[in-house]
Amino acid sequence: MVAARGPVGQAHEVPERCSALQDEVLAVLASMEGLAYLGEPVSQLIHALEAGAALRTTGADDELVLAGVLHDVGRTLAARRPGQPHEVAGARWCAERFGERVAYLVGAHVAAKRVLVATDPGYSALLSPTSVATLEAQGGPADQDEVAAFSTGRWPDDALALRRADEAAKDPDGRRLSLAEVVELVERVAGAGTPR
Ligand SMILES: [Fe+2]
Repeated sequence: MVAARGPVGQAHEVPERCSALQDEVLAVLASMEGLAYLGEPVSQLIHALEAGAALRTTGADDELVLAGVLHDVGRTLAARRPGQPHEVAGARWCAERFGERVAYLVGAHVAAKRVLVATDPGYSALLSPTSVATLEAQGGPADQDEVAAFSTGRWPDDALALRRADEAAKDPDGRRLSLAEVVELVERVAGAGTPR
């Protein structure tokens, strides 16, 4: 293990030898360190690591936790495709590296927000002012047909769990995964099989 610069300037232990995929994930996360998160009080990197930690706390499996870490990767230049919504760009980036389920969960996180707003009044009350503002641009609350279509997806409950973690991951002092934990996650998910 070696020390590497990590979130908010803290030293983080990461493995001395990483695979190309692990290096790629670390690089894309590093690119998120200096990115503001749409007016939220955390950087994109802290948001990502807190989303992963929130899911881990609920007992989520590795793919779901990794999807939580990577759900906004489409906001980075590394994954951005001109004109593509960030959830679509992120899903494509993840599909090429981690397979169908991680890609689905990343791609569904905006739709999951719209579904939760439409179906769970308690969730709406938790939205940050920024999240309320972006909801409008994202299409507002899902209508009945959209809720029904969402529920027929392959992993709708996991997508909703990711979205709840997304909303909770905006605390400057919140619990977060370490980069070493993310590296281990990448190894376990990628090692579990080739992209599906
Ligand atoms: Fe997010």
